[in-house]
Amino acid sequence: MHPSKRIFVALDTSDLDHALALGRDLAGHVGGVKVGKEFFTALGPDGVRAVAGLGFPVFLDLKFHDVPATVSRAVKAAAALKPFIINVHASGGGKMMRAVAEAVGDGSERPLVLAVTVLTSLGDDDLAAIGIAGSSETQVLRLARLAKESGLDGVVCSALEAEALRAAMGSDFKLVTPGIRPEWAAADDQKRITTPAQAVALGADYLVIGRPITGAADPADAARRIADELDR
Ligand code: C5P
Repeated sequence: MHPSKRIFVALDTSDLDHALALGRDLAGHVGGVKVGKEFFTALGPDGVRAVAGLGFPVFLDLKFHDVPATVSRAVKAAAALKPFIINVHASGGGKMMRAVAEAVGDGSERPLVLAVTVLTSLGDDDLAAIGIAGSSETQVLRLARLAKESGLDGVVCSALEAEALRAAMGSDFKLVTPGIRPEWAAADDQKRITTPAQAVALGADYLVIGRPITGAADPADAARRIADELDR
């Protein structure tokens, strides 16, 4: 895979013109775009189609979490937009994830379906407060195993968890990592960060990168520098 293909740029905006301008600027420099709840709530399926229309694989980051029937239908509706990646919360349980795997089927055009294990905004104290004893790493591994057993393709995780996940889950299990910061970029509100090259060395397949690219004076140049770093 060409290194730039690993980069999914996070278009965290509700302004379609801004998203499209960034997308045009980044064509050829990133592998795809990630749009999430802010973008989708404001701009809907038409917004997704507009971004996909620029030729990008789309990671539709809607993190569904509900009863199996509702989530499997939502995923089916999302799959009709032909995203490259969609995701659900693993804590929705094995039945929910199996219903999702069944709903997307195994056709060649189906999206990769990933599970969110433990949100990286939650520390061990936060987990204890919602009744989950033990470390976040134990919980991440438990939910990743359940996701795999349920037929999902991989997880969204911190690159700092990627090494343990890669060892436990095997080489086909997809690991997609946000929290990426090149040495020359500001950390912003991210805490547990790695550089792009470290994330790939630790086992990440795809990197979700937002502000280091979208907030740069020259986003295409920032993406190019990141791809160059991955190539070394
Ligand atoms: O700008 P930045 O590179 O921090 O953007 C990272 C993107 O990945 C944002 O869309 C953020 O919501 C998302 N994300 C994250 N950490 C997670 C899951 C998603 O930063 N654990």
